[in-house]
Amino acid sequence: MERAPSDRPPVLRVPSASAAGFEQPALPGLMPSASLRELAPPERIQARVEALAAAIARDHGPLRPLTLMVVLRGAFVFAADLARALIGAGVTDLQIEFLQAASYRGTAAVGAPAINLLGPVEPHSDRAFLVVEDIVDAGRTIRAVVDRLAPPGRALAICALLDRPEGHRVPVEVRYVGFQLEGPGFVVGYGLDYEGRYRELPYLAQWLPPSGPAPRGRR
Ligand code: IMP
Ligand code: MG
Repeated sequence: MERAPSDRPPVLRVPSASAAGFEQPALPGLMPSASLRELAPPERIQARVEALAAAIARDHGPLRPLTLMVVLRGAFVFAADLARALIGAGVTDLQIEFLQAASYRGTAAVGAPAINLLGPVEPHSDRAFLVVEDIVDAGRTIRAVVDRLAPPGRALAICALLDRPEGHRVPVEVRYVGFQLEGPGFVVGYGLDYEGRYRELPYLAQWLPPSGPAPRGRR
């Protein structure tokens, strides 16, 4: 599907990680031993969240019932801001449900993602569903979520804060994208973690290894 020019996500460049020669500037909430390169400050993220909410409200129709299916855990911060921005964009009938997808340990994918719905999802609901994800990389996680949620006829679209098209290994259509990533670097902050850390940071940043090359496989 072609995006309208106004809906094209801005690009964040995330090169292969090396902390060599990198001098850590002061960043709020960062422990002294960590190295993170800031990619997007909070104001820039908020502006994108509001633009996404406006596009979703425009396409969906503000009065139509909408359910956000939030993919835990990474999408919790993004979803909280997006839900409130959708209200700001005029959406009046919003429900928020959660599911859990787990497939990563550190920076390396392990096995097929396991999908766990954290509440009942009505099989024949006339509500439209918007899956809210933190990042689409290979696309296997979001593919597994969609396969789980999409009985024939159910209206389902995907909204991801971050999309890395060059990482896609299975076909996925991410309708709403906050930022497009270029390069293999690993992203943390604003809900995204590295081994459970950094979710609370209000900005997006590239995780840099303490020293030496990036871990095996990626980043
Ligand atoms: P996919 O199946 O490769 O598309 O993986 C997507 C999932 O992997 C996301 O839901 C994230 O939890 C995790 N993930 C992939 N890349 C990153 C990253 O750069 N930072 C943090 N989590 C990531
Ligand atoms: Mg995730």
